Amino acid sequence: MNVVTTKNLSKEYSAKSFSKEKILALSNFSFEVQSGEIFGLLGPNGAGKTTLIKILLGITFPTSGDIKIFDKDISNQSYKKKVGYLPESHKFPNYLTGEQVLHFFGKLSGLSSNDVKKKSDEYLKLVDMEKWRKTKIKKYSKGMLQRLGLAQAMLNQPELIFLDEPTDGVDPIGRKEIRDILNNLKQQGTTIFLNSHLLSEVELICDRVAILNKGVLIKSGRVDDITATSDNYIFTTTDLDESVINKLLVSFKCTIKSKNEFYFNSDSVEELNKLIDFIRQNNIMIQGIAREKNTLEDMFINLIGSKN
Ligand SMILES: Nc1ncnc2c1ncn2[C@@H]1O[C@H](COP(=O)(O)OP(=O)(O)OP(=O)(O)O)[C@@H](O)[C@H]1O
Ligand SMILES: [Mg+2]
Repeated sequence: MNVVTTKNLSKEYSAKSFSKEKILALSNFSFEVQSGEIFGLLGPNGAGKTTLIKILLGITFPTSGDIKIFDKDISNQSYKKKVGYLPESHKFPNYLTGEQVLHFFGKLSGLSSNDVKKKSDEYLKLVDMEKWRKTKIKKYSKGMLQRLGLAQAMLNQPELIFLDEPTDGVDPIGRKEIRDILNNLKQQGTTIFLNSHLLSEVELICDRVAILNKGVLIKSGRVDDITATSDNYIFTTTDLDESVINKLLVSFKCTIKSKNEFYFNSDSVEELNKLIDFIRQNNIMIQGIAREKNTLEDMFINLIGSKN
Protein backbone atom coordinates (compact mmCIF):
# COMPACT_ATOMS: atom_id res chain seq x y z
CA MET A 1 0.00 0.00 0.00
CA ASN A 2 1.18 3.53 -0.75
CA VAL A 3 1.30 5.93 2.15
CA VAL A 4 2.24 8.91 -0.03
CA THR A 5 1.45 9.30 -3.72
CA THR A 6 2.09 12.40 -5.80
CA LYS A 7 1.17 12.95 -9.44
CA ASN A 8 2.71 15.68 -11.59
CA LEU A 9 3.50 17.87 -8.64
CA SER A 10 4.92 21.28 -9.53
CA LYS A 11 5.85 24.23 -7.38
CA GLU A 12 6.81 27.69 -8.55
CA TYR A 13 8.08 30.29 -6.15
CA SER A 14 8.35 33.99 -6.95
CA ALA A 15 12.03 34.79 -7.20
CA LYS A 16 11.49 38.06 -5.25
CA SER A 17 8.50 39.64 -3.56
CA PHE A 18 6.13 41.18 -6.13
CA SER A 19 8.33 39.92 -8.97
CA LYS A 20 7.03 38.01 -11.99
CA GLU A 21 10.27 36.05 -12.16
CA LYS A 22 9.66 32.44 -11.08
CA ILE A 23 11.76 29.64 -9.59
CA LEU A 24 10.57 26.17 -10.53
CA ALA A 25 11.35 24.24 -7.33
CA LEU A 26 9.49 21.08 -8.38
CA SER A 27 8.54 20.02 -11.87
CA ASN A 28 5.98 17.28 -12.62
CA PHE A 29 7.19 15.20 -9.71
CA SER A 30 5.42 11.83 -9.42
CA PHE A 31 6.43 9.25 -6.86
CA GLU A 32 5.16 7.09 -4.06
CA VAL A 33 6.25 6.03 -0.59
CA GLN A 34 5.18 2.55 0.38
CA SER A 35 3.89 1.54 3.77
CA GLY A 36 6.59 0.47 6.23
CA GLU A 37 9.59 1.50 4.15
CA ILE A 38 12.41 3.95 4.73
CA PHE A 39 12.38 6.23 1.72
CA GLY A 40 15.26 8.60 0.97
CA LEU A 41 15.02 11.74 -1.12
CA LEU A 42 18.42 12.79 -2.40
CA GLY A 43 19.57 15.78 -4.35
CA PRO A 44 22.08 18.63 -4.32
CA ASN A 45 21.42 21.94 -2.54
CA GLY A 46 18.36 23.65 -3.95
CA ALA A 47 17.05 20.50 -5.66
CA GLY A 48 13.60 20.90 -4.09
CA LYS A 49 13.75 18.33 -1.25
CA THR A 50 12.56 20.60 1.55
CA THR A 51 9.92 22.10 -0.73
CA LEU A 52 8.52 18.61 -1.30
CA ILE A 53 8.33 17.84 2.43
CA LYS A 54 6.68 21.21 3.11
CA ILE A 55 4.09 20.55 0.42
CA LEU A 56 3.38 17.06 1.78
CA LEU A 57 2.85 18.59 5.21
CA GLY A 58 0.59 21.37 3.95
CA ILE A 59 3.08 24.06 5.03
CA THR A 60 3.29 25.36 1.50
CA PHE A 61 1.03 24.67 -1.46
CA PRO A 62 1.82 23.15 -4.85
CA THR A 63 1.24 25.18 -8.00
CA SER A 64 -0.28 22.07 -9.59
CA GLY A 65 -0.53 18.32 -9.13
CA ASP A 66 -2.24 15.76 -6.89
CA ILE A 67 -1.17 14.39 -3.52
CA LYS A 68 -2.61 11.53 -1.54
CA ILE A 69 -1.49 10.63 1.96
CA PHE A 70 -2.94 7.53 3.59
CA ASP A 71 -5.03 7.22 0.42
CA LYS A 72 -6.80 10.55 0.93
CA ASP A 73 -6.35 13.87 -0.79
CA ILE A 74 -4.29 16.15 1.46
CA SER A 75 -7.05 18.74 1.53
CA ASN A 76 -8.42 16.31 4.13
CA GLN A 77 -6.25 17.46 7.04
CA SER A 78 -6.97 14.46 9.29
CA TYR A 79 -3.70 12.76 8.19
CA LYS A 80 -1.68 15.31 10.20
CA LYS A 81 -2.52 13.55 13.45
CA LYS A 82 -0.64 10.49 12.16
CA VAL A 83 2.42 12.38 10.93
CA GLY A 84 5.67 13.44 12.64
CA TYR A 85 8.11 16.06 11.33
CA LEU A 86 11.69 17.01 12.04
CA PRO A 87 12.30 20.26 10.11
CA GLU A 88 15.62 21.14 8.51
CA SER A 89 17.67 23.51 10.76
CA HIS A 90 14.85 23.69 13.29
CA LYS A 91 14.93 26.51 15.80
CA PHE A 92 13.23 25.71 19.06
CA PRO A 93 12.96 28.68 21.48
CA ASN A 94 16.34 28.45 23.20
CA TYR A 95 15.14 29.55 26.65
CA LEU A 96 13.22 26.25 26.95
CA THR A 97 14.69 23.08 28.42
CA GLY A 98 14.60 19.85 26.41
CA GLU A 99 11.70 18.65 28.49
CA GLN A 100 9.76 21.89 27.93
CA VAL A 101 10.28 21.65 24.17
CA LEU A 102 8.72 18.20 24.18
CA HIS A 103 5.88 19.40 26.39
CA PHE A 104 5.18 22.29 24.02
CA PHE A 105 5.15 20.12 20.88
CA GLY A 106 3.30 17.28 22.62
CA LYS A 107 0.49 19.63 23.59
CA LEU A 108 0.45 21.09 20.06
CA SER A 109 -0.07 17.53 18.77
CA GLY A 110 -3.10 17.23 21.03
CA LEU A 111 -1.58 14.74 23.52
CA SER A 112 -2.81 14.78 27.13
CA SER A 113 -0.36 16.06 29.78
CA ASN A 114 -0.03 12.50 31.05
CA ASP A 115 0.82 11.14 27.61
CA VAL A 116 3.29 13.96 26.99
CA LYS A 117 5.08 13.08 30.23
CA LYS A 118 5.07 9.35 29.50
CA LYS A 119 6.21 9.71 25.90
CA SER A 120 8.82 12.38 26.75
CA ASP A 121 10.39 10.01 29.31
CA GLU A 122 10.40 7.18 26.79
CA TYR A 123 11.80 9.14 23.84
CA LEU A 124 14.36 11.17 25.77
CA LYS A 125 15.77 7.85 26.92
CA LEU A 126 15.65 6.45 23.39
CA VAL A 127 17.64 9.38 21.93
CA ASP A 128 20.01 9.34 24.90
CA MET A 129 19.12 12.85 26.11
CA GLU A 130 17.62 11.99 29.47
CA LYS A 131 20.39 13.60 31.50
CA TRP A 132 20.00 16.88 29.58
CA ARG A 133 16.24 17.14 29.93
CA LYS A 134 16.36 19.97 32.49
CA THR A 135 19.09 21.93 30.67
CA LYS A 136 18.14 24.95 28.56
CA ILE A 137 18.60 24.09 24.91
CA LYS A 138 20.78 27.16 24.27
CA LYS A 139 23.47 25.00 25.90
CA TYR A 140 22.89 22.06 23.56
CA SER A 141 25.30 21.09 20.80
CA LYS A 142 24.04 20.65 17.23
CA GLY A 143 23.91 16.88 17.64
CA MET A 144 21.96 17.18 20.91
CA LEU A 145 19.43 19.50 19.24
CA GLN A 146 19.01 16.97 16.44
CA ARG A 147 18.36 14.17 18.93
CA LEU A 148 15.80 16.30 20.73
CA GLY A 149 14.22 17.13 17.36
CA LEU A 150 13.95 13.43 16.62
CA ALA A 151 12.25 12.79 19.97
CA GLN A 152 9.86 15.66 19.20
CA ALA A 153 9.03 14.13 15.79
CA MET A 154 8.25 10.74 17.38
CA LEU A 155 6.22 12.07 20.30
CA ASN A 156 2.76 11.50 18.84
CA GLN A 157 3.77 7.98 17.70
CA PRO A 158 3.29 8.85 14.03
CA GLU A 159 2.58 6.25 11.36
CA LEU A 160 4.54 8.39 8.89
CA ILE A 161 7.54 10.49 9.88
CA PHE A 162 9.26 13.15 7.75
CA LEU A 163 12.87 13.87 8.64
CA ASP A 164 14.66 16.70 6.85
CA GLU A 165 18.41 16.06 7.19
CA PRO A 166 18.05 14.16 10.50
CA THR A 167 21.76 13.57 11.00
CA ASP A 168 22.90 17.09 10.13
CA GLY A 169 25.63 18.04 12.61
CA VAL A 170 25.62 14.65 14.35
CA ASP A 171 28.93 12.82 14.87
CA PRO A 172 29.49 9.33 13.40
CA ILE A 173 28.54 7.48 16.59
CA GLY A 174 25.42 9.62 16.98
CA ARG A 175 24.57 8.95 13.33
CA LYS A 176 24.81 5.21 13.90
CA GLU A 177 22.51 5.60 16.94
CA ILE A 178 20.01 7.56 14.86
CA ARG A 179 20.12 4.85 12.18
CA ASP A 180 19.40 2.25 14.86
CA ILE A 181 16.46 4.30 16.16
CA LEU A 182 15.06 4.64 12.64
CA ASN A 183 15.47 0.93 11.99
CA ASN A 184 13.63 0.27 15.24
CA LEU A 185 10.82 2.58 14.22
CA LYS A 186 10.63 0.73 10.91
CA GLN A 187 10.39 -2.61 12.75
CA GLN A 188 7.40 -1.17 14.60
CA GLY A 189 5.75 -0.43 11.25
CA THR A 190 6.44 3.32 10.96
CA THR A 191 6.97 4.64 7.44
CA ILE A 192 9.97 6.96 7.26
CA PHE A 193 10.63 9.63 4.67
CA LEU A 194 14.01 11.30 4.92
CA ASN A 195 15.93 13.95 3.05
CA SER A 196 19.66 13.62 3.17
CA HIS A 197 22.94 14.61 1.61
CA LEU A 198 24.79 11.78 3.30
CA LEU A 199 24.70 9.19 0.58
CA SER A 200 26.69 6.48 2.33
CA GLU A 201 24.26 6.76 5.20
CA VAL A 202 21.21 6.67 2.97
CA GLU A 203 22.64 3.56 1.34
CA LEU A 204 22.85 1.90 4.75
CA ILE A 205 19.34 2.64 5.82
CA CYS A 206 16.91 3.34 2.96
CA ASP A 207 14.86 0.72 1.11
CA ARG A 208 14.14 3.00 -1.83
CA VAL A 209 15.40 6.36 -2.97
CA ALA A 210 14.49 9.11 -5.42
CA ILE A 211 17.09 11.47 -6.83
CA LEU A 212 15.97 15.00 -7.50
CA ASN A 213 17.88 17.66 -9.41
CA LYS A 214 16.60 21.17 -10.08
CA GLY A 215 13.08 20.01 -9.21
CA VAL A 216 13.12 17.09 -11.64
CA LEU A 217 13.06 13.43 -10.65
CA ILE A 218 16.00 11.83 -12.38
CA LYS A 219 16.04 8.36 -10.88
CA SER A 220 14.15 6.29 -8.35
CA GLY A 221 14.18 2.71 -7.24
CA ARG A 222 15.34 0.19 -4.67
CA VAL A 223 18.79 1.01 -3.32
CA ASP A 224 19.87 -2.58 -4.05
CA ASP A 225 18.83 -2.30 -7.69
CA ILE A 226 20.34 1.14 -8.23
CA THR A 227 23.66 0.17 -6.74
CA ALA A 228 23.66 -3.47 -7.84
CA THR A 229 25.93 -3.43 -10.83
CA SER A 230 28.27 -1.31 -12.83
CA ASP A 231 29.54 -2.19 -16.30
CA ASN A 232 33.01 -2.71 -14.87
CA TYR A 233 34.30 -6.30 -14.69
CA ILE A 234 37.38 -7.22 -12.69
CA PHE A 235 39.24 -10.22 -14.12
CA THR A 236 41.82 -12.21 -12.20
CA THR A 237 43.85 -14.67 -14.27
CA THR A 238 47.04 -16.67 -14.47
CA ASP A 239 50.00 -14.64 -15.79
CA LEU A 240 49.26 -12.54 -18.88
CA ASP A 241 52.08 -12.31 -21.43
CA GLU A 242 53.02 -9.15 -23.28
CA SER A 243 51.18 -9.90 -26.55
CA VAL A 244 47.97 -10.67 -24.67
CA ILE A 245 48.34 -7.50 -22.63
CA ASN A 246 48.75 -5.49 -25.84
CA LYS A 247 45.64 -7.01 -27.37
CA LEU A 248 43.66 -6.38 -24.15
CA LEU A 249 44.73 -2.75 -24.21
CA VAL A 250 44.21 -2.08 -27.91
CA SER A 251 41.25 -4.28 -28.92
CA PHE A 252 39.29 -4.53 -25.70
CA LYS A 253 40.27 -1.18 -24.10
CA CYS A 254 40.99 -2.93 -20.81
CA THR A 255 42.77 -1.33 -17.90
CA ILE A 256 45.70 -3.50 -16.79
CA LYS A 257 46.24 -3.55 -13.03
CA SER A 258 48.94 -6.24 -12.87
CA LYS A 259 49.99 -9.29 -14.85
CA ASN A 260 47.16 -11.17 -13.08
CA GLU A 261 44.45 -8.56 -12.97
CA PHE A 262 42.68 -6.26 -15.43
CA TYR A 263 39.42 -4.30 -15.72
CA PHE A 264 37.02 -4.46 -18.63
CA ASN A 265 34.18 -1.98 -19.07
CA SER A 266 31.26 -2.77 -21.35
CA ASP A 267 27.48 -3.03 -21.28
CA SER A 268 27.56 -5.67 -24.04
CA VAL A 269 27.36 -9.33 -23.00
CA GLU A 270 28.63 -10.28 -26.48
CA GLU A 271 31.78 -8.20 -26.01
CA LEU A 272 32.30 -9.75 -22.59
CA ASN A 273 32.09 -13.24 -24.07
CA LYS A 274 34.42 -12.31 -26.93
CA LEU A 275 36.95 -11.23 -24.34
CA ILE A 276 36.56 -14.47 -22.39
CA ASP A 277 37.02 -16.51 -25.62
CA PHE A 278 40.15 -14.54 -26.45
CA ILE A 279 41.67 -15.18 -23.04
CA ARG A 280 40.87 -18.87 -23.08
CA GLN A 281 42.25 -19.24 -26.64
CA ASN A 282 45.54 -17.91 -25.29
CA ASN A 283 45.67 -20.66 -22.66
CA ILE A 284 45.17 -18.26 -19.81
CA MET A 285 43.08 -19.52 -16.91
CA ILE A 286 40.40 -17.19 -15.58
CA GLN A 287 40.46 -17.37 -11.80
CA GLY A 288 37.65 -14.94 -11.20
CA ILE A 289 35.35 -12.38 -12.82
CA ALA A 290 33.63 -9.95 -10.48
CA ARG A 291 31.18 -7.31 -11.55
CA GLU A 292 31.94 -4.15 -9.64
CA LYS A 293 29.22 -2.68 -7.40
CA ASN A 294 28.34 0.97 -7.71
CA THR A 295 27.95 2.95 -4.55
CA LEU A 296 25.04 5.31 -4.28
CA GLU A 297 27.60 8.10 -4.31
CA ASP A 298 29.10 6.92 -7.65
CA MET A 299 25.63 6.81 -9.12
CA PHE A 300 24.66 10.20 -7.71
CA ILE A 301 27.80 11.90 -8.97
CA ASN A 302 27.40 10.33 -12.43
CA LEU A 303 23.80 11.45 -12.67
CA ILE A 304 24.05 14.90 -11.10
CA GLY A 305 27.45 15.64 -12.60
CA SER A 306 26.05 15.09 -16.07
CA LYS A 307 22.91 17.19 -15.50
CA ASN A 308 24.55 20.36 -14.21
N1 LIG B 1 10.09 30.51 0.07
C1 LIG B 1 10.81 30.49 -1.04
N2 LIG B 1 10.73 31.52 -1.94
C2 LIG B 1 11.43 31.51 -3.10
N3 LIG B 1 12.24 30.48 -3.48
C3 LIG B 1 12.35 29.44 -2.64
C4 LIG B 1 11.65 29.38 -1.38
N4 LIG B 1 11.95 28.21 -0.77
C5 LIG B 1 12.81 27.57 -1.60
N5 LIG B 1 13.04 28.30 -2.71
C6 LIG B 1 13.88 27.91 -3.86
O1 LIG B 1 13.40 26.67 -4.34
C7 LIG B 1 14.48 25.81 -4.71
C8 LIG B 1 14.41 24.51 -3.90
O2 LIG B 1 14.69 24.80 -2.53
P1 LIG B 1 14.63 23.69 -1.39
O3 LIG B 1 14.84 24.36 -0.10
O4 LIG B 1 13.40 22.89 -1.57
O5 LIG B 1 15.91 22.80 -1.78
P2 LIG B 1 16.61 21.60 -0.98
O6 LIG B 1 16.75 20.47 -1.96
O7 LIG B 1 15.89 21.31 0.28
O8 LIG B 1 18.06 22.21 -0.70
P3 LIG B 1 19.09 21.94 0.54
O9 LIG B 1 19.75 20.62 0.24
O10 LIG B 1 20.04 23.07 0.44
O11 LIG B 1 18.30 21.92 1.81
C9 LIG B 1 15.75 26.61 -4.48
O12 LIG B 1 16.10 27.22 -5.70
C10 LIG B 1 15.34 27.67 -3.47
O13 LIG B 1 16.09 28.84 -3.61
MG1 LIG C 1 16.48 21.37 2.28
